[in-house]
Amino acid sequence: AKILALHGPNLNLLGVREPDIYGRETLADINAGLAEQAHAAGHELSWYQSNAEHELIGRIHQARDDRTAMILCNAGAFTHTSIALRDALSAVAIPFIEVHLSNVHAREPFRHHSYLVDIAVGVVSGFGSDSYRLALDAAVRRLARPEA
Ligand code: DQA
Repeated sequence: AKILALHGPNLNLLGVREPDIYGRETLADINAGLAEQAHAAGHELSWYQSNAEHELIGRIHQARDDRTAMILCNAGAFTHTSIALRDALSAVAIPFIEVHLSNVHAREPFRHHSYLVDIAVGVVSGFGSDSYRLALDAAVRRLARPEA
């Protein structure tokens, strides 16, 4: 099946951006690892990063047309602000897993609220780049279940 890794604002700076919080791996490293992990499980991973809300929304709409089965969604700061991203994810009705490198609940109070989490399958937060790997593992397991 098709799996989409969707990365929001500032995640293009991974590796150089606040490495104590977000680690030293670049987004390219993470995407390459995810593509390999998905392929080994018999799936196809594509990825998309944008700093612009409307472009992320456009990619979510496209995911319906290209029959994406699951989205790994790190919306970055839009997680805490964007009703529009929430509405896009609801509109396409594609199951998604919310992902964060950092443990958002151990950080500033404004990161504790997510506009996405209650419509997500689940959330992985706090494991650095492993958050994506764990989320992909969960996605693969879910896709293997007949009801998925
Ligand atoms: C983040 C957490 C968000 O609060 C922050 O705005 C980000 C990255 C994470 O992956 O830990 O940009 O989504």
